[in-house]
Amino acid sequence: MEERYLTFALGKGRLANKTLELLEQIGITCEEMKDKSSRKLIFVNEELKLKFFLSKGPDVPTYVEYGAADIGVVGKDTIMEENRRVYEVLDLGFGKCRMCVCGPQSAKELLIHHERIRVATKYPLIARDYFYNKKHQTVDIIKLNGSVELGPIVGLSDVIVDIVETGSTLKENGLMVHEEICSLSARMIVNQVSMQMETDRIRSLILQLKELCGKGNEINAYR
Ligand code: PRP
Repeated sequence: MEERYLTFALGKGRLANKTLELLEQIGITCEEMKDKSSRKLIFVNEELKLKFFLSKGPDVPTYVEYGAADIGVVGKDTIMEENRRVYEVLDLGFGKCRMCVCGPQSAKELLIHHERIRVATKYPLIARDYFYNKKHQTVDIIKLNGSVELGPIVGLSDVIVDIVETGSTLKENGLMVHEEICSLSARMIVNQVSMQMETDRIRSLILQLKELCGKGNEINAYR
């Protein structure tokens, strides 16, 4: 029987570039993907029977859940927010950052006293889960699509729930981290049916990447 293609969905941008570097180290290359001027959306490695496509990060878990991609690489933040039925199989160890509750100094008291505050975020599900289920604090969540730091600056919200990497965006805008929700990094996710049908190929890929990324990174989210 002819081998079927394994399809990868990669979140556009830094994560995709890092993933391609990693794959190259285990002998998986896709030359045509490196052409930055290309408007092509899907790339094929005929020899290895692999396909790759780039999509918006939040769409990666969707492609993987529906089986349009067998494998995806995306940030843990997106996996948590999208909450799709996929197996999270490997922490790739790059794209490390933290999901935090941030705001001006004055927000500290509001957080300590569990006041009913306004929270601006690109991640309403993560924010809701944190405040309602973990902190047991009733808050009003306001969904934004980017530059969330503006929230407290222009008086839209008291705090934000957002990704902090170097902390410089906060610093430059007079904001600080008040509470840490969780650590984040790039993860590999797999379609649940693909994991059963293509166990050998996918397991071998995971093992090779695991060797590269360091031990102990495999997440036992599947049997
Ligand atoms: C992310 C995040 C913060 C910033 C944190 O934004 O939302 O704004 O990076 O990085 P730092 O701690 O190193 O300053 P991104 O650049 O993804 O754009 P966005 O504002 O559109 O979400």
